[in-house]
Amino acid sequence: MRVKRHEKFALAALATALPLAVAAWAQTTPGAGLEGSPGARLYARYCAACHGRDARGTVIGFPLVARPSGPVTQEIVLESLRTPLQMMPSFPRDVISDDDAALITYYLTTLDHQVSGAPVPSPPDVSGLRPIPPLSPPPAVPPADPASYEMKEFDTGSCGAGHDIAVAPDGRVWFAGSERNSIGMFDPRADGIRCWQVPTRNARPQGLRVDRDGMVWVTLTGLPDNKIAMFDPRTELFSEFMLPHRPQPLVFPERLTFDAERDPIFSLGYGDGAGRIDRKTGHFDYFPVPAFRARPDGIEVARNGHIWMTESIANKLVEIDPKTGKATEFTHPLATDDPGLGAMGLDSRGNVWFAEHEFGSLGMFEPRTRRWRSWRAPANGGNPHGVRAIAVDHRDTVWFTHAGGNYIGRFDPHTESFAVYPFPSADTDCRDIDFGRDGAVWCVSTRSPKLIRLMLKGA
Ligand code: HEC
Repeated sequence: MRVKRHEKFALAALATALPLAVAAWAQTTPGAGLEGSPGARLYARYCAACHGRDARGTVIGFPLVARPSGPVTQEIVLESLRTPLQMMPSFPRDVISDDDAALITYYLTTLDHQVSGAPVPSPPDVSGLRPIPPLSPPPAVPPADPASYEMKEFDTGSCGAGHDIAVAPDGRVWFAGSERNSIGMFDPRADGIRCWQVPTRNARPQGLRVDRDGMVWVTLTGLPDNKIAMFDPRTELFSEFMLPHRPQPLVFPERLTFDAERDPIFSLGYGDGAGRIDRKTGHFDYFPVPAFRARPDGIEVARNGHIWMTESIANKLVEIDPKTGKATEFTHPLATDDPGLGAMGLDSRGNVWFAEHEFGSLGMFEPRTRRWRSWRAPANGGNPHGVRAIAVDHRDTVWFTHAGGNYIGRFDPHTESFAVYPFPSADTDCRDIDFGRDGAVWCVSTRSPKLIRLMLKGA
């Protein structure tokens, strides 16, 4: 959150809203309403990717609860944010303020209390904090008529939960097996699942795309080395490309796509830029963005060869000309309200569609006119935040997933109307979408071993 505490226009009345909210939340029994607290939101936004949703650690980040040495303190958190030991990215004060850090620490100690029974200290005094303005209510859109579509879940079994997904030219569905260190494959014709262990241990595969030749490319975000791997389904062999430890040890390759030469191009979540690997020579190219700690996330290559990325912490879009390396940033008009730009897609006219995760809305930027637009997505009776995946199909229809409302959404830009297709299982949370040639919409859950296929009837 780029909290602008010197924001000239912050209303005094609004400025008191957050501490009150913290106090009200803190008065409830520890644990109750934790999810909705300001600290929980900040933690989910900045820390959960590495330290785990429940703060119990991942293959990347240490556990931040139930530590043998006791609950984390504000001093430990501040030291880790400002001067991290080694792999952790730094978060300077203008990205995460001391007050934000205090809220995160308080949330962590409350979680710790649940796990270890350690006492909960009193809530922090964060009276200077500028609150996030409340969101307008999401539109009420009833779920689509069940007769109009078919949604099917396939069990991925021991291949586990996944992250990004891609349908290969031959119709097979590939996914990054983020949970079980693998890449998974589902063959709809054979109705069979298979997965292959990535050669690197604890690699945590995340981004995945299949190129025109059917080669499967995957980003590996684990420690100590970040890599890009290519899997050849014919030989069942992996080739790995090591990423440089610049501009910091953990550059965190997020999502992946290809340029016209079929070279993989990927967003570097903590590397403030995009990376590209020349598939013939293995040479690595780095395209930095101007913003520090921008947190690039979604990435696509436009018809003119320019790279587009969302910057999730900086709340900007960036356009990079890979020929010159020139990077132009476009700041979201509501950047100070922290929309949290996430996944993105391009339509046939070159418009940029992106998730405004924190707003629970779809955003669109028209490069030609530099106009921004935004549509609040339905919440489907759940948490209004959490637009995750976005993909634009060949008819320029925008598809997305909503983690809070637990559904796959369809947005028709012509009528500006939404359709809601609820997931059969609770807490599905797909981070990526791809389309089969038959029009099927595919995604894989990051929280459970489930692959999901949505088919509209009579489409
Ligand atoms: C990109 C991954 C990543 C992110 C994001 C991240 N961390 Fe870390 N964190 C690490 C790693 C790796 C370590 C281990 C120390 C090192 O290598 O720097 C660590 C260590 C720590 C420690 C020290 C733990 C101990 O027991 O001494 C704390 C505290 C911490 N992180 C808090 C946070 C908080 C709070 C956030 C969110 C604002 C956060 N981290 C975001 C990767 C991350």
